[in-house]
Amino acid sequence: MAANKELIHEAAIQPLMSKFKFEIKKKNKSRNIFVLIFSSVFMVLSWFTDVNKIVLENIVLKNNSQMLDWYINPPVNKILKVYIFNYTNIEKYKSGEDKKLHVQDIGPFSFEEIADKIDVKWNDEFLTYRENRSHKFLPHLSTNIPLNSTIIFPNILLISAIPNIHRIGFAAKTAFGTLLNLSKPKQFENLTIEESIFRFPTPFKRAVSMVKWNLSPYDTGLLMKRSGISETAITINTGIKDYNEIGKIVRINGKNKLDIWKSESCNNVSASDGAFYGPENLRQRKEVQAYIPEICRTLPMEYYGKSSAFQSIPVLHYNIPDDIFNKEKNCEPKNTESQNIDGLFDFSQCDIVDESPPIFVSFPHFLHGDPKLFEHFEGLKPNKSHKSFVHLHPRISVPIQGSLFMQLNLQLFHFRNYFKEFPEGIILPLSWIEVTIENKIERNVWWFFFLSADFADYSMNFMRILLTIVFLFASKSLYDSLKKEEENYQNKKIIRIS
Ligand SMILES: *[C@@H]1O[C@H](CO)[C@@H](O)[C@H](O)[C@H]1NC(C)=O
Ligand SMILES: *[C@@H]1O[C@H](CO)[C@@H](O)[C@H](O)[C@H]1NC(C)=O
Ligand SMILES: *[C@@H]1O[C@H](CO)[C@@H](O)[C@H](O)[C@H]1NC(C)=O
Ligand SMILES: *[C@@H]1O[C@H](CO)[C@@H](O)[C@H](O)[C@H]1NC(C)=O
Ligand SMILES: *[C@@H]1O[C@H](CO)[C@@H](O)[C@H](O)[C@H]1NC(C)=O
Ligand SMILES: *[C@@H]1O[C@H](CO)[C@@H](O)[C@H](O)[C@H]1NC(C)=O
Ligand SMILES: *[C@@H]1O[C@H](CO)[C@@H](O)[C@H](O)[C@H]1NC(C)=O
Ligand SMILES: *[C@@H]1O[C@H](CO)[C@@H](O)[C@H](O)[C@H]1NC(C)=O
Repeated sequence: MAANKELIHEAAIQPLMSKFKFEIKKKNKSRNIFVLIFSSVFMVLSWFTDVNKIVLENIVLKNNSQMLDWYINPPVNKILKVYIFNYTNIEKYKSGEDKKLHVQDIGPFSFEEIADKIDVKWNDEFLTYRENRSHKFLPHLSTNIPLNSTIIFPNILLISAIPNIHRIGFAAKTAFGTLLNLSKPKQFENLTIEESIFRFPTPFKRAVSMVKWNLSPYDTGLLMKRSGISETAITINTGIKDYNEIGKIVRINGKNKLDIWKSESCNNVSASDGAFYGPENLRQRKEVQAYIPEICRTLPMEYYGKSSAFQSIPVLHYNIPDDIFNKEKNCEPKNTESQNIDGLFDFSQCDIVDESPPIFVSFPHFLHGDPKLFEHFEGLKPNKSHKSFVHLHPRISVPIQGSLFMQLNLQLFHFRNYFKEFPEGIILPLSWIEVTIENKIERNVWWFFFLSADFADYSMNFMRILLTIVFLFASKSLYDSLKKEEENYQNKKIIRIS
C-alpha cells in the first residue's frame, strides 16, 4: 500500500518537477543575464570612478564646513622649544685670556603656541587672514633651569643699530655717538632668560626710543615678534574650484610676489601656508614648498619615503634639504652686499622697516654650515638629528607631525671703540628653536573624517574586485547554461534524426 502510494505520488509529481526544473533553468538564464548586465555596468563604473576625487572635493575650505573650522582654529599642538646661548666667558675673552668665545646653549624652554586665524575675509575662491598667536609656558616640557635665571647675552639693540649708522651718514653717526656716551650701553648684558625671550627691557632701549630709532624686530625679545597679531596678511586658495590648489598662497599682503630677493623663484610665493600641500603634488611625490612668513621665504621639502606617524596613520615623510642655506640654493637679498657663507641665510630685508638689523638664519649650532662659522667659538656641537621634516597625510595632504629647526644669528660690526675686541663681522648665535607640530585630532575622528578617504578607496577597490568576480561568475554560468542548452538542442536533434 505504502509503496503504491509512493509510486502514485511520484508519477503525479514527475511532470510537475520537470516543468519546475525547466522553469528554474529559464529563470537561471534570465537571472544570469541580469547579473551579467548589472555587474558589467557597475564594474565599468567602479573602475572609472575616482573615489579619491569625490572625497577630496568634500574637504575644500567651504563656508560652514568642518575643514574650515579646523583651518581657522587648527587642531594641532604647536610647541616651540627655545634654546638660548649663554656667553659664559666674555670678560676672559675681552681680556685676551681666552682665545675663543664660549657659548652654552640652555634649554629647552617650551611654549605652546596657539595660532588662530583672524580677520578672515572671503573673496570668491580665495580667503585672506592674519594670525593671532599667543604663547603658554609649558614647565613639564622645559629644562628645570628657572626662567628667571640670568644669562650673559649680546646687546642686540646696540649690535643691530651699528650697520645702519654706518649707512645713514655723519649727522646720525654723531647723534648716535652722543647717545652712546650718555647711556653707555653694555656690549653684553645680564638678562633673565624670560627677558631675552619675551621682553628685553634695557635702559638703552629707552634711550633709543627717545631718539625714535626704529630698531624692530628684535627690540622686544626673541619671541615677541611671533606673539600677537601678525603683520602679514595671507591670501590662499580654498580649493573650491580645484581641490589640488587648496591652501596654496596666492598673495602676501595683497601682492602676488615679493620684492626682496634677487631671483624670481625666491620672490615667488606660490607655496603652502603650512596647512595643506595639495593632494596631486603628494600623489606624484613631487617636491612641495612651504612659505615661512618669519623669514619671508619659501622652503622646499623633498619626498623621502613612506612612514607611519603616531596612531599608526600611514604618512609620507618629507625633508627640508640640508643644503638649503648653501650658495646654490640660497635666496640672496636685493639690497645688500651679502657675503654668502654656506649655512647662513640673510633675511634682514624681510622686515618692513628700512633700517634692518644684520640678522641671519641657520640650522642649530650652524649644522651643515661653513667651518668659518665655528672658528671663534667653543661649545657649538651640531647635531645631525636636528633635521627639519614633515609627515603629510597622503590623501588629504595635511601635516600630521613635523619639526622645523632654526637658529637666529646676529652679525657684529665695530663702532668707534665698541666691540673692538671682537673680530669684525663675526656671526653671533643668539638662540635656536624647534617648532614641532602634532595633529591632535583623535584617532576615531581620524577614522571618521580623514581615514574615510583611505577607507573609501580601499572599499572601492574591494567593490571593484567583487564586481569583477561577480561579472566573471555570471558570464561563466551564462556561458554554461547556454552551452547546456546548446547540448540539449543538439541531443534532441540527434534523437530526432535517429
Ligand atoms: C558664510 O556663512 C556666514 C554665515 O554662516 C555668512 O555670513 C557669510 O556671508 C558666508 N560667506 C560666504 C562667502 O558665503
Ligand atoms: C651663564 O653664564 C654665566 C657665566 O658663566 C653663569 O654665571 C650663569 O649661571 C649662566 N647662566 C645659566 C642659566 O646657566
Ligand atoms: C588674540 O589672542 C589673545 C589670546 O588668546 C586674545 O586675548 C585676543 O583677544 C586675541 N585677539 C584678537 C584680535 O582676536
Ligand atoms: C626665581 O623664581 C622663583 C620662583 O619661581 C623664586 O623662588 C626665585 O627666588 C627667583 N629667583 C630670582 C633670582 O629671582
Ligand atoms: C664720546 O666720548 C668720547 C670719549 O669717551 C669722545 O672721544 C667722543 O668725542 C664722544 N662722542 C660724542 C659724539 O660726544
Ligand atoms: C653680570 O653679573 C655678574 C655677576 O653674576 C657681574 O660680575 C657682571 O659684572 C654682570 N655683567 C653685567 C654686564 O652687568
Ligand atoms: C610661481 O611658480 C609657479 C610654479 O611653481 C608658477 O606656476 C607661477 O606662475 C609662479 N608665479 C609667479 C608670479 O612667477
Ligand atoms: C642630538 O639630538 C637628539 C634629538 O634631539 C638627542 O636625542 C641626542 O642626544 C642629541 N645628540 C647629542 C650628541 O647631543
